[in-house]
Amino acid sequence: MGQNGAGKTTCVKMMNGLNRPTEGDVIIDGVNTKEKTTAFIARMVGYVFQNPDEQIFNSTVISEIEYMPRYFKIPEEEMKRRVDRAVELTDIKKYLHTNPLDIPYPIRKFVAIAAVIAAKPRYIILDEPTAGQDKHGTETLASLIKGLEEDGVTVLTITHDMDFAVANFKRIVVMAHKNVIADGDPRDIFWNEEVVQEARIKKPQIGEIAKKIGVGGKVLFCDELVERL
Ligand SMILES: Nc1ncnc2c1ncn2[C@@H]1O[C@H](COP(=O)(O)OP(=O)(O)OP(=O)(O)O)[C@@H](O)[C@H]1O
Ligand SMILES: [Mg+2]
Repeated sequence: MGQNGAGKTTCVKMMNGLNRPTEGDVIIDGVNTKEKTTAFIARMVGYVFQNPDEQIFNSTVISEIEYMPRYFKIPEEEMKRRVDRAVELTDIKKYLHTNPLDIPYPIRKFVAIAAVIAAKPRYIILDEPTAGQDKHGTETLASLIKGLEEDGVTVLTITHDMDFAVANFKRIVVMAHKNVIADGDPRDIFWNEEVVQEARIKKPQIGEIAKKIGVGGKVLFCDELVERL
């Protein structure tokens, strides 16, 4: 996380080979991104664009989801398994034969996610997934992140939604002025006033309330606050 222009998108685009560093190296599981093609890196690291319209290009949802497995020549049976899992996690079954452009924007974002899941990368990066989502969409995202974890996928997310971040992620990296300024446990991040101010992030709501009423113990969740009170 980090304010607009901090360098988040640029940083993650380097993780899947869409960008190459002009200085230094990006190493993914021992592989230097400078030595491989973007197609190769994309099989290891999947990036879901902030705006699904920059990503989606097929004329039906199912052809969008099948595109990457077909490109990689994955056997039909395995492809079907992947597509089924991607569709299950993103909850878009009823849209499979629809043109993505005829689907509401928030659901279109799930189509973009499903297409990346079906490529079965070891890492998946979501860029602002909660933007434009209602409560139901945010809940679907939470359960899909859990499902991906169960499948052994590591999920990275760029987000301005602090409540979403603490509810679903164990580690937070904070960026400011194109640099990483903090990296660690959500409690240590949000209760470090220097970091919060420099990155201009906000504590999650419960943390904010805990601070205002003077409850100690780096509280971030509702049940913890209730217990302290
Ligand atoms: N390490 C860097 N060195 C120099 N310029 C950078 C670096 N990282 C990012 N930039 C430039 O800074 C600008 C903002 O970067 P980026 O779009 O990655 O920010 P962001 O954190 O994703 O912002 P937003 O929250 O608005 O999406 C871009 O023009 C990008 O090219
Ligand atoms: Mg960005």
